[in-house]
Amino acid sequence: MNRRRFLTQTGLGLLAASAGTAGRSAGSKSEPGRGPLIVSTWGFGKASNDAALKVLVRGDSILDAVEQGIWVTESDAGNSSVGLAGNPNAAGVVQLDACIMNGPNHKAGSVCALEGIRHPISAARRVMEKTRHVMLVGEGAKMFALEEGLESVGGDSSGLHTQWHKQRMSQQSRESARKPTGHDTLALLVLGANGDIAGGCSTSGLGGKLPGRVGDSPIIGSGLDVDNAVGAAGATGLGENVMRYCASFLIVEFMRQGMAPHEACMQVIRRILSSEPKGANLSINFVALDKQGRYGAAGTDRGFQYSVTMPESSRVLPNPANGKL
Ligand code: GLY
Repeated sequence: MNRRRFLTQTGLGLLAASAGTAGRSAGSKSEPGRGPLIVSTWGFGKASNDAALKVLVRGDSILDAVEQGIWVTESDAGNSSVGLAGNPNAAGVVQLDACIMNGPNHKAGSVCALEGIRHPISAARRVMEKTRHVMLVGEGAKMFALEEGLESVGGDSSGLHTQWHKQRMSQQSRESARKPTGHDTLALLVLGANGDIAGGCSTSGLGGKLPGRVGDSPIIGSGLDVDNAVGAAGATGLGENVMRYCASFLIVEFMRQGMAPHEACMQVIRRILSSEPKGANLSINFVALDKQGRYGAAGTDRGFQYSVTMPESSRVLPNPANGKL
């Protein structure tokens, strides 16, 4: 295929021609279906975004882009909140949560409290594509992932959990379950060149969580929501404060009503803060993109960052909500 034809088919030619003038910055207007665009949570999301863009440029699907992009962060031994190098629970076991959602057919898959599987996002995708279910948890999710031939690492954790349960009434265990450590979920959203949208989330969740605790990340509508007619949103932060409000769903609904992605993220935070006695100390952070190729983010964590990637640039941006909440 010659270069002109390749650029036309992938949509890259249109982007290259309009780079810098297309108005793709947060909250601005642009033409419908203006992809490829990849938006993810945190600075570490950029490496995943870059991998996802490569998948799109070689002509593979938006779901492949989500899955293979997230692989990069799940494989990062230096990342302490996504993948098997992530935060262990109170029993010392890493239990991973992930989900994936495909805009064109509005299908979704997720796995919760999954142990010993290298790529939970792939397990989530297999749930979506190979079962009639949306969510598998714990041992069932692991058995399914193993049956699917997904790579596994490590042994049986039941001894550790049994030991922890035996000790759980001791002062020490009560303290460790009470003192959670921070965590940063990867939520990654993809707008393809033809305007189709997909997204995924992957996390080890809250460090020191009670065994079996599940956060917002694998819950469709909470940690992730995709509507192919409107846009997509994803979350990072303290899952308990996101899932009580179905926050990603709400962001997408605000975009459906006409808000730009950044505005929709801000509006959801304001809505949550207005009914929260805890005030702004909630650790809720969001990214969003819409069908028009606009993107945005907002969070209550001052250090929150997000990554935005398109053929002409790949950048880590600061939390636009800083000083505005
Ligand atoms: N946001 C991820 C979690 O709370 O588990």
